[in-house]
Amino acid sequence: MSNPSLLILAGDGIGPEVMVEVRKIIDWFGAKRDLTIDVTEDLVGGAAYDKHGTPLHDDTMAKAQEVDAVLLGAVGGPAYDDLDFSIKPERGLLRLRKEMDLFANLRPAQCFDALADFSSLKKELVAGLDIMIVRELTSGSYFGEPRGIFEENGERVGINTQRYTESEIDRVARSAFELARKRDNRLCSVEKANVMESGILWREVVTKIGAEDYPDVELSHMYADNCAMQLVRNPKQFDTIVTDNLFGDILSDCAAMLTGSLGMLPSASLGVPMENGKPKAMYEPVHGSAPDIAGQGKANPCACILSFAMALRYSYDEGAEADRLEAAVEKVLADGVRTADLMQAGAAKPASTGEMGDAVIAALDASL
Ligand code: IPM
Ligand code: MG
Repeated sequence: MSNPSLLILAGDGIGPEVMVEVRKIIDWFGAKRDLTIDVTEDLVGGAAYDKHGTPLHDDTMAKAQEVDAVLLGAVGGPAYDDLDFSIKPERGLLRLRKEMDLFANLRPAQCFDALADFSSLKKELVAGLDIMIVRELTSGSYFGEPRGIFEENGERVGINTQRYTESEIDRVARSAFELARKRDNRLCSVEKANVMESGILWREVVTKIGAEDYPDVELSHMYADNCAMQLVRNPKQFDTIVTDNLFGDILSDCAAMLTGSLGMLPSASLGVPMENGKPKAMYEPVHGSAPDIAGQGKANPCACILSFAMALRYSYDEGAEADRLEAAVEKVLADGVRTADLMQAGAAKPASTGEMGDAVIAALDASL
């Protein structure tokens, strides 16, 4: 049997430096757990544009379709702000999502005990927080047609279209129900059925699936604006949330910040099952390219390391090893190791990106 495969697309900004730490982790699993992953690397985003004049080369797209999983660092940076929309770094990421058909984006927002003080909310509101946002990722206003900037009555009009088919709602809802079952068995479906037809259909489809196939899962519905408010008022009321592409983009940033540590949060984007029964998948940290600190060894590699842990769980069927890696990161935090993003200004000297990675390796060694 061939080894599981991984395509690493480190991308821009802090992407490459956090990926160096993930490579150490991957090597550790090969050496110490007999879990060898065949890694290839390629370019995405601004880095791909610099070399090929496009944020995602066709050959890279083809490779992404062949591997068991893709691990992406981050894309974008000020050097590319003035590029035409069609070749901006973000287009590379959106093409991967769309062509791999990665419709279910899992964004956990989990508050690490050791970091509860870092939230902008009171500690008691966030300690123990564990939310899973399932964001629809390949449709809605990000991709709906018509779209564009057009001339109309002597002025320009910018158009995007919020559009969802029943089957698009159906498949992401089922993913969310399945996940809810593995968690606290509660699912909150979020839309704006009070003003949008796409929201009315969303609610109808989710309600029907729930009644027919997931009667054991406690289903509730919430308007997106109320959900934003409830997330900052009392976030622990939520278990699993399912929502559309645009609301999910916004609400997941909000939920991520509640945990006080954007630099800690991973994500998984899952598509339809391949021949081996595993879903097409791409993993990426929730944080962006952070160009202001890139190349200085300040970045927190934990979100990318935890994204690899999600790959172990969902793509490689190595749930126990994923648990081991997540526990190692928690131990490092509990031991007080902190990159700069996890410290109050003026506190003791922060750990560098490399020191954080090494600390995780040491914790992995200690787990044996
Ligand atoms: C995200 C990001 C992307 C999005 C950008 C970089 C295109 O904000 O993954 O949440 O809007 O989906
Ligand atoms: Mg976003």
